[in-house]
Amino acid sequence: MSMTLLNEITGRYPDAVSFAAGRPYEGHFQLSLLHRYLDTFARYLVERRRFTPEQVNRTFFQYGNTNGTITELVARHLKVDEGLTVDPATVVVTTGCQEAMVLVLRALRRDARDVVFAGRPTYVGFSGAARLVEMEVRPVREGPDGLDVDDLVVQVRRARAEGRRPRACYVIPDFANPGGATLPVTARRRLLRVAEREGLLLVEDNPYSMFHDGRPRPPTLRSLDRHGNVVYIGSFAKTAFAGARIGYVVADQPVAGAGTFADELAKLKSMLTLNTSSIAQAVIGGLLVEHECSMERASAPTAEVYRTNLRTLLDGLAHRFPAGSAPVSWNSPTGGMFAVLTVPFRADEAALEYSASRFGVLWTPMHHFYAGAGGLHQLRLSYSVLTPDQINVGLDRLAAFVADRTG
Ligand SMILES: Cc1ncc(COP(=O)(O)O)c(C=O)c1O
Repeated sequence: MSMTLLNEITGRYPDAVSFAAGRPYEGHFQLSLLHRYLDTFARYLVERRRFTPEQVNRTFFQYGNTNGTITELVARHLKVDEGLTVDPATVVVTTGCQEAMVLVLRALRRDARDVVFAGRPTYVGFSGAARLVEMEVRPVREGPDGLDVDDLVVQVRRARAEGRRPRACYVIPDFANPGGATLPVTARRRLLRVAEREGLLLVEDNPYSMFHDGRPRPPTLRSLDRHGNVVYIGSFAKTAFAGARIGYVVADQPVAGAGTFADELAKLKSMLTLNTSSIAQAVIGGLLVEHECSMERASAPTAEVYRTNLRTLLDGLAHRFPAGSAPVSWNSPTGGMFAVLTVPFRADEAALEYSASRFGVLWTPMHHFYAGAGGLHQLRLSYSVLTPDQINVGLDRLAAFVADRTG
């Protein structure tokens, strides 16, 4: 099922409560902030970077450095929020982390023998990027705690036995989209050992880690990595706003005769988009400066909304589907924007249409994230743009829909 079809169904039922929309919360959008962030960034260039007025003008109006104008601020954000020490020269600022995925995959693809691995289900943006560069994505089993590392080993060896070249594994360790799972620290360490042994890069995608439930979270793969096996990609789409289309990649792996992997990615980027919009970078740059490079601090009000909504959703599910008697089950993510409900009937497009037209509630069929095979009995529930009241109304409707289908 395409995103287009999902949007089309959503469009036809404007009064339905939508657990389908994976968009970030909109309640803190404020036009005046954009102007202020631009001003803040200009001041930062003058006062902290000692730019002349001409240099400031050029930074905003001219073609820019391919790696980006805010690499130092991004590196500081990673230090402040994730405890990562990153050389700004190994950061490439991209047009959303979507572009980072395309660049990384394109750089890794030498010929048709190259393959990458990703959990199934996985983020459709990654599958799409792989399709664009004609790189096969081999699925790896996902359990309740995310990627199944044992299955990754099986898949890597199988691919190699077939004459294929395993290049990388894509992982969303924190509050994954679509599953909501968080990879435990023991699995993170094992994954790193496997990557080292099998000569595999790990592409760590981390757009959701700021949306935790307040408890300590496992360290990033990048911070546990001792052998340079992790390429880290990040996004400001959820912590700041998606409209800026600012993401980045950290790639400090040395490449024979070509500097670092980041240099290689920058070379590819210079052929794709030249540089990420300087104006969009300036807006995010200003936001970073104002919050002393802490996106944890900058996104705290939004994180609080997600925390409340997640609690409302999980409590609401438990209330409507009492343990032991319910025909359904669900996972209990500790953060992020998504949870998954498992049902005893087919949760496909026809079921979604029925749910929307008869019960006024929308959700995303999980099989959409399974590349054709699997997930037919699962619904992704997203709670990012709803109020607690809407969540409760939506859950009443969802419970009625489930009762209808299972009664
Ligand atoms: C796993 C994952 N990665 C990345 C992104 C965002 O990417 P971008 O920075 O291109 O908006 C999303 C947004 O839905 C996502 O779910």
